[in-house]
Amino acid sequence: MKGKGEKISMLTAYDFTMAGIIDSAGVDVILVGDSASNVMAGFETTVPMTMEHMIYHTSCVVRGVNRALVIADLPFMSYQVTAKEALISAGRMMKEAGAHAVKLEGGKVIAPTVKKIVEAGIPVMGHLGLTPQSIYKFGTYKVRAKEEEEAKQLLKDAKKLEEAGVFSIVLEKIPADLARQVSESVSVPTIGIGAGHHCDGQVLVLHDMLGLNKDFSPRFLRRYADLHQSMTDAVQNYISDVKEGSFPNENEQY
Ligand code: KIV
Repeated sequence: MKGKGEKISMLTAYDFTMAGIIDSAGVDVILVGDSASNVMAGFETTVPMTMEHMIYHTSCVVRGVNRALVIADLPFMSYQVTAKEALISAGRMMKEAGAHAVKLEGGKVIAPTVKKIVEAGIPVMGHLGLTPQSIYKFGTYKVRAKEEEEAKQLLKDAKKLEEAGVFSIVLEKIPADLARQVSESVSVPTIGIGAGHHCDGQVLVLHDMLGLNKDFSPRFLRRYADLHQSMTDAVQNYISDVKEGSFPNENEQY
C-alpha cells in the first residue's frame, strides 16, 4: 500500500462486537492496543496491563474479525527484561490469542529484541515518539521530539527498527515534519497518531473517534460520532419507558 501511495487505515478494538463492526466497515488494520487499560479497564496509564489482559482482549477481537490484520500490543514489562522473555510473550500472543502480529514500544534499545522475534516468524510493528508505557520517564503526554537532538535520535531509532525487521512503525505525537522525514527515510509504512498527514497511514483509539470519551480532546483527535450523547439519550429513553410502563408493550411480550 505504501508503494502504491494508498493510505492505511487502522483503529483499535478490544472486544468481539466492536471488532466485527469495524472489520465489516473495511478498516485495514485493527490494533488491540494496551490503551484497553484506559478505555476498557479505567486505569490512568497503560502500565498495569498484563499478558493475561492482552491475551483476553486479543482473542475476543480475533473471533470478531474476518479480513483485517490484527496486531496486539505487548504489555509493559512483557518484553523489556530479556529478548528471550519477549519472544515467549510474542509467541503467546500468536498461539493463545490468535494475533497476526505484535507491537512493542521503543527504538535502538529494543531493536535486538525485535530482530529475535521477527527471526522466529512473528511480524513486529514498532512504536516511536510518545510511547505511553514510558509515561513515568517522560512525565507528560505532550508532543515528543520537538527539539533537534530528540528528533535526530528518533530518525536513527526508526532506521534501527527497520534494520531489525519491523513491518511498520507507529509514530505517536511528534511534529508533522519529523513524521514526514521518517516516512520518507524508511521503506516500511508509518502509521501516525498525532503525527500529521505525511504518514503512510493513520490510527485512532476507537472510543475516542466514536466520541465515547467526552473528556478527551487532544488537537489530533477528529470525532466521527457522538456516541456518548447517543448512548445517554438511548439509556434515558429506556429508563423513562420502563418507569412509565410503556416498555414492554403487547408486541414485546409472550
Ligand atoms: O495502545 C494503543 O491504542 C496504541 C495506539 C494509540 C497507537 O498504541
